[in-house]
Amino acid sequence: MAKITYVEHDGTEHVIDVKTGLTVMEGAVKNNIPGIDADCGGACACATCHVYVDGDWLPKTGSKSAMEDSMLDFAENVEPNSRLSCQIKVSDELEGLVVRMPESQH
Ligand code: FES
Repeated sequence: MAKITYVEHDGTEHVIDVKTGLTVMEGAVKNNIPGIDADCGGACACATCHVYVDGDWLPKTGSKSAMEDSMLDFAENVEPNSRLSCQIKVSDELEGLVVRMPESQH
């Protein structure tokens, strides 16, 4: 279990306890957080689960696969801390993680 803060583009925060083993995307979808549509259901094939990982958390979320990297090419406003939230597995180590949704997803 990890407490994850999802921040919408307008600054609205949602603090959710997400079970270990789920992805950051699944935590958002199960709790109806706006801004993460996850059209492909987590298959790394849509980029509608794009988030910015806050500050120091980026290394803890693991590294991007080649597939994630190429799918991010289809996302808008990609930054160095961009990730696809369906590719980030929740573990206890992510307690306190903060992710922000890009402007294009609201
Ligand atoms: Fe489609 Fe993440 S849910 S790429």
